[in-house]
Amino acid sequence: MTDLITVADLRKTFRAEGRSVAAADGVSFSIARGETLALVGESGSGKSTTARLILRLVRPDGGHISYDGSDVLSLAGQDLKAFRRRAQMVFQDPYASLDPKLTVGQIIAEPLIIHRLASGRRKERVAELLDLVGLEADVAKRRPKAFSGGQRQRIGIARALAVEPEFLALDEPVSALDMSVQADLLNLLDRLQRRFGLTYLFISHDIGVVRHVADRVAVMQAGALVEIGAAEEVLSAPRHPYTQGLMASVPKVPDTRPPGIGIWAQAVSKSESRAADR
Ligand SMILES: Nc1ncnc2c1ncn2[C@@H]1O[C@H](COP(=O)(O)OP(=O)(O)OP(=O)(O)O)[C@@H](O)[C@H]1O
Ligand SMILES: [Mg+2]
Repeated sequence: MTDLITVADLRKTFRAEGRSVAAADGVSFSIARGETLALVGESGSGKSTTARLILRLVRPDGGHISYDGSDVLSLAGQDLKAFRRRAQMVFQDPYASLDPKLTVGQIIAEPLIIHRLASGRRKERVAELLDLVGLEADVAKRRPKAFSGGQRQRIGIARALAVEPEFLALDEPVSALDMSVQADLLNLLDRLQRRFGLTYLFISHDIGVVRHVADRVAVMQAGALVEIGAAEEVLSAPRHPYTQGLMASVPKVPDTRPPGIGIWAQAVSKSESRAADR
């Protein structure tokens, strides 16, 4: 697999109220095309900042970001716009991230308008996108408040997919949802990844979720990447003391999950579940 994204020595310090926080302190890693890299670590360790730096929502103080061979930090004009189309973000809070004044159809059509896509057939395209995420076409007429958290997150995913991106940064995409809804959403993300060959940066603090989705796992502590490797290795035999501590705080068998619900029924890893599908 070739690398889609490479970040090298990313640095970002936030200064506020006389305090400075190194949210990214020399972060380096790559993500291969079509893979899921999970980013884990305690609250405030710099996970969201790392995703925002890659998507150019935040300017780093230093370092390099390469996306499909081009230098992301020097992109401007049409090239920057093209990059913004290829790389999308899905947020944790499906309540805060959808504009309550707009209909679902308008929310999903917005990126189509910005990027001048599907002109003359936007309604059809919105219906296609809703179908992709398992929602009926008439959902488009209603406003976000009519929907549950899980449905709203599907709407957020449909909006992210509208511009046919190849990379999604998913920032705690299922953390706000009930366990059974989480399983459905993770299965949807997995199907979409296979269908479109998507590359994911998947931020989560839930090791059970990470075990299910990740090909590789990167662990952050206080702005620094302390460990990165194949999911099986990092999750079952972590080398760094910080990762060992994270894993020790997780029950070995996810027996706290409701029984019989899809993915939680067996604690399978992504590679095992994909192998079973073949
Ligand atoms: N815009 C900002 N201004 C000031 N400080 C910030 C800003 N964004 C992030 N920080 C600080 O940078 C550090 C890293 O924040 P970040 O949101 O990246 O952590 P995180 O790993 O995503 O945490 P969480 O799991 O709580 O979402 C934190 O100390 C945070 O307070
Ligand atoms: Mg965060």
